[in-house]
Amino acid sequence: MSSEESEFGIIGMAVMGQNLALNIEQSGYRVSVYNRTDSKTKDFKQKRASDRDIVATYELEEFISSLERPRKVLILVKAGKPVDMVIDQLLPLMEEGDIIIDGGNSHFQDTNRRVKKVEGEGLHYLGTGISGGEYGALHGPSIMPGGHREAYDEVSEILRSAAAQTPEGPTCKYLGPRSAGHYVKMVHNGIEYAVMQSIAEVYWAMKNLLDLSHEDMADRFEAWNQRLDAYLMEITVEILREEDEKTGRPLLEVILDTAKQKGTGKWTSQSALDLGVPVPTITAAVDARLLSARKDQRGRLDELYGELGNYETYEGFEDDLGKALYLSIVTAYAQGLDLLEEASEEYNYGLDIQDVAQIWKDGCIIRSDLLDPISESYSSEGLDTLLASEEFQDDYREAIPSLRKVVSALSKTDLICLALSASLNYFNSLTAERLPANMIQAQRDYFGAHTYQRVDEEGTFHTEWQDIKNV
Ligand SMILES: NC(=O)c1ccc[n+]([C@@H]2O[C@H](COP(=O)([O-])OP(=O)(O)OC[C@H]3O[C@@H](n4cnc5c(N)ncnc54)[C@H](OP(=O)(O)O)[C@@H]3O)[C@@H](O)[C@H]2O)c1
Repeated sequence: MSSEESEFGIIGMAVMGQNLALNIEQSGYRVSVYNRTDSKTKDFKQKRASDRDIVATYELEEFISSLERPRKVLILVKAGKPVDMVIDQLLPLMEEGDIIIDGGNSHFQDTNRRVKKVEGEGLHYLGTGISGGEYGALHGPSIMPGGHREAYDEVSEILRSAAAQTPEGPTCKYLGPRSAGHYVKMVHNGIEYAVMQSIAEVYWAMKNLLDLSHEDMADRFEAWNQRLDAYLMEITVEILREEDEKTGRPLLEVILDTAKQKGTGKWTSQSALDLGVPVPTITAAVDARLLSARKDQRGRLDELYGELGNYETYEGFEDDLGKALYLSIVTAYAQGLDLLEEASEEYNYGLDIQDVAQIWKDGCIIRSDLLDPISESYSSEGLDTLLASEEFQDDYREAIPSLRKVVSALSKTDLICLALSASLNYFNSLTAERLPANMIQAQRDYFGAHTYQRVDEEGTFHTEWQDIKNV
């Protein structure tokens, strides 16, 4: 290699691309960068990378020829069509053995399609989820790579040195072929949605039922986070303590209550439905965002119905809120991991849940001390749900009465508890030896002759529920 050549290239100089370029350079690699709009590359080089071993390029040809072979190009552009457009521009310029890494939030099926296309041209493709946002990208994200194994081996040193470092190693490990990495990142985001919604519901209950100041609520979340050490709890504490410069009020009070989404939570629910895996807390979180977006309609209906319900709490409610939140968070992970196991089977990813837990341990949005007992749980063969693990059985036994009491109390008010009640019903369903699905089967057989099975006899049965001739 010429000493002038870069060991790594990044396309896309928005927040993620800029910060990862700085991070990878900091780890000791020369990095070439390119962005569709020249001014962003120029600004970045001048303002953030003037004294760094980062080569700013302004034509794709110049970018490609600045890289040592096999070329390693990380795409960090807006997810969706832009990724295809960039790949189409790259293919004629790159050569056999070169490696394209998509580090964005791509849909896993898009990744499968792109793997085929790029590998068909003799290049390699790594669909790689990256979590940790702006801060993580700069200081050590969680990296979820999937795709061609040998291509991963070519880039692993670079990716692992840029990832967050834990006592057990970097938060980057090869996950599996094709879209395995992007699938894991999608489920990471699904869990993130569910944890965020559970926190939001507990904040709302505290605010409306306990009459606590924002500072007091921050203290409660901080205390509950002793057990979890979760990033999303940490930022909740800081958010609650933030004051609005304009009004002097808590900043949270002036933030509009309509949640946006880019689709990864919805994709998780859609994929879970396709695979027949129940993830009700994640789906509830997606629904909650959709409902929040109906701001005008909500306003009109609020006027129509006014305040409903009884806003009383009970002694111990505050303590129960903390336990209910803990359990809803554990349940979100349980659902996400269950989905990963099923997807691994269905798509032959060969996922190792312990590796996933290691990757999520630091650098990402759902990082938490929970990942240690989760990892421990999956070290035993044949575990099919966290609910059955030795590590979490006592937690469920201890906290489920609190979750029941909280959901029950909130149900008597007009406050929402979509995620908390979904977690409770998930637990109730999975731990019920008998469910009312006998009624569903009878109804299906009644109107569609779909047949049913009996509890006391092998075989398939159908009942002539009505006398068709006389109907
Ligand atoms: N932001 C986060 O916290 C975060 C966290 C994890 C993952 N991600 C994922 O990482 C990826 C990058 O995120 P980001 O927030 O840094 O950037 P972004 O806002 O998602 O995308 C902006 C970048 O995409 C480029 N772009 C858009 N359309 C293009 C096209 N047709 N051809 C070439 N380039 C195009 C833009 O170039 P121009 O400057 O020319 O417009 C710009 O560099 C996304 O997939 C995102 O979902 C983001």
